[in-house]
Amino acid sequence: MNSQLSTLNSQLKVSIVGGSGYVGGELLRLLLAHPNVEVRQVTSERRAGQYIYSTHPNLRGATDLQYTTQETLEPCDLLFLALPHGSAAKNIERFAALAPRIVDCSADFRLSDPDEYARWYGGPHPNPEFLSQFVYGLPEINREQLREARFVSGVGCNATATNLALLALARAGVLDPSRDIIAEIKVGSSEGGAEATDASHHAERSGVVRSFAPVGHRHTAEVRAVLGIENVHLSITSVEMVRGALATCHGFLREPLAERDLWKIFRGTYGNEPFVRIVHDRQGLHRHPEPKILAGSNFADVGWALDDNTGRIVTFCAIDNLMKGAAGTAVQCMNLMCGFDERTGLGFFGLHPA
Ligand SMILES: NC(=O)c1ccc[n+]([C@@H]2O[C@H](COP(=O)([O-])OP(=O)(O)OC[C@H]3O[C@@H](n4cnc5c(N)ncnc54)[C@H](OP(=O)(O)O)[C@@H]3O)[C@@H](O)[C@H]2O)c1
Repeated sequence: MNSQLSTLNSQLKVSIVGGSGYVGGELLRLLLAHPNVEVRQVTSERRAGQYIYSTHPNLRGATDLQYTTQETLEPCDLLFLALPHGSAAKNIERFAALAPRIVDCSADFRLSDPDEYARWYGGPHPNPEFLSQFVYGLPEINREQLREARFVSGVGCNATATNLALLALARAGVLDPSRDIIAEIKVGSSEGGAEATDASHHAERSGVVRSFAPVGHRHTAEVRAVLGIENVHLSITSVEMVRGALATCHGFLREPLAERDLWKIFRGTYGNEPFVRIVHDRQGLHRHPEPKILAGSNFADVGWALDDNTGRIVTFCAIDNLMKGAAGTAVQCMNLMCGFDERTGLGFFGLHPA
């Protein structure tokens, strides 16, 4: 029997490394309610011995687990890593010895090319031989590989919003290759993680519309690799949200297209996707994707607007950065890796009004 199917008859034993952070908290929220999963251990070096609810108060009553240290980790079926950049890369051999399957939410294994990694992350990868062993964890492009994967890298949140905004048009080959594509991504404060910094101080962060990375953002590399397009450029702007990312991408069509052609292209790519919804209404308040209504949900809402006069096409994708941009997609990948229904544990539609 396929070893991936062997988990079907018993609870999958998972542990989370770096469980006290924002991504760790969302992984816990999803996994504690997942019908096929038993959460065995959750690590935090600084909070070892404390109850989970001390950092994730929304989970009070959901578990009586306490944080443990990485040193006390025991073997399990699948290990989620939700650590800051660099920690997973340095320690991957030790983690791989603990679990036959790993989903790493950091950027450490997202780029399969060691030279690209060095270019974007400012130095050589500490364990480059592992890079080619990881499958990039975006089910909308790698679903079949994920079913067989042992190691999966989580996705970048800004990269995911951009990739899903542009994937349909990129696949259809309708974008003018001679014109650059500009993706402007507006992001909420939880992208920065739970650690307080000068930039996250309320007086500095509240109410901002602040250019955070107008050029050179690292997720550019992920987008170029996924879409196979070199002339796509990202600009990131911090705005007044806790959760959410909205990518607004500007490109030009190679040839004129009608609305019905665009519907066909978007339906062709996303019509069967369980977590991508097309939002393109003629009227009403919510005719374009908006992250606010997605908080806590794994949906990515995509849409477009066409300027017939110039051929400019604007595509959108809204996500919750901690869900479709991190923990939600990580659980979706786990479901695929373990032979569960891909949608299991991810049914929450979001709140309205919120
Ligand atoms: N936030 C997002 O929107 C988002 C989206 C996609 C991907 N990601 C990626 O997911 C990962 C986690 O992000 P996050 O936002 O959850 O970060 P976070 O809130 O800062 O949490 C980081 C976690 O790592 C632990 N940690 C910190 N420094 C450590 C060290 N030196 N050694 C061991 N453990 C350490 C922390 O535990 P302690 O309690 O011990 O400090 C905490 O549990 C990052 O790589 C991030 O890039 C984040």
